[in-house]
Amino acid sequence: SEPTSGESKVLRVGTSADYAPFEFVDTAVSDDIIGFDIDLANMIAERLGYELQFTNSDFNSLIPGLQANKYDFVISGMTPTEERDKVVDFSEPYYETEQYLVSLKESNINSMEDLKGKVVGG
Ligand code: ARG
Repeated sequence: SEPTSGESKVLRVGTSADYAPFEFVDTAVSDDIIGFDIDLANMIAERLGYELQFTNSDFNSLIPGLQANKYDFVISGMTPTEERDKVVDFSEPYYETEQYLVSLKESNINSMEDLKGKVVGG
């Protein structure tokens, strides 16, 4: 039945939080798994009335984890391969990009090199 407000159905999600900015842990801030994939999955889940419970696991253990029914789905920046396609279903792609940082021509930021030392972790 449809989840009613106040009670969310929980889905178990496997991810390998070692792939910033898609899924990672910023230990300086907290032990939470954060990133693009986490936000995206949470947004979709929220719309559908689900709550997500993420488990951080080695990337190579994610598909075996699905097979062992540890997860309902995996989101981990995973690219389809022939090998993987034999045992799991892939969704439509959710991330392909032609997006760029933009700066003024006369600015002193003309390449990624120019950002060194100006960004956190850079
Ligand atoms: N896209 C590559 C793959 O599917 C790398 C993904 C790695 N993801 C991660 N969370 N470590 O093999």
